[in-house]
Amino acid sequence: MLRFSLVTLACITVNVQAQDLEALKLDTRTRALPVLPKVVAMMKETVVAKGAVDAIPVCKDKAPQLIKEQSDKTGWQMRRVSLKTRNPERGAPDVWEARQLAEFNIRAANGEKADTLEAGEVISENGKQVYRYIKAIPVGDVCLACHGAREGLDTALKEQLARSYPHDRAVDYQLGQIRGALSVQRPL
Ligand code: HEC
Repeated sequence: MLRFSLVTLACITVNVQAQDLEALKLDTRTRALPVLPKVVAMMKETVVAKGAVDAIPVCKDKAPQLIKEQSDKTGWQMRRVSLKTRNPERGAPDVWEARQLAEFNIRAANGEKADTLEAGEVISENGKQVYRYIKAIPVGDVCLACHGAREGLDTALKEQLARSYPHDRAVDYQLGQIRGALSVQRPL
């Protein structure tokens, strides 16, 4: 039987049979991921209808709200994280998430497509078992309006971002890169 045993910095990875891990991954995917295309669709509509400045609330309020609704529905913790955040107060990764995001960047550099990158592990935290799942969020066309090359950004948008996000690192992305990830913690 295939078994996994790894020790991470922050927490202990629990030995779980490969088929159980696969089942957890499939179920988590099915119940957590539908929120992602909803956010992208809403962003596209809003940027086209109102322009980038007025679409800021979609990434700022709507996306976290839709993720919270999905989180309430499932009873799992869910949030967006990134190695290059716009809003570090909400989107800074913990050790496990940072490790997975770094791994995603390596896998992408080796030719894997950003929208296929995911990882899942059973972790023991303070004696409780949690299934942790993370799925990369790729940079699509519409994202470039606000996360693309800094010089290319609309002037009014740049001013607005500078006012609201003095520590903004979420620019200079290119199409197909990894913008961040959706991170899920599911108590077992
Ligand atoms: C209209 C401008 C705008 C567009 C277009 C946009 N974003 Fe954002 N994005 C923001 C803002 C503003 C934040 C900071 C939100 C906050 O305050 O939490 C953000 C934050 C994020 C975060 C959370 C991590 C962080 O950096 O703070 C992710 C992930 C993200 N965006 C992904 C995307 C993706 C993927 C797309 C394309 C589908 C996209 N964004 C399009 C403005 C935008």
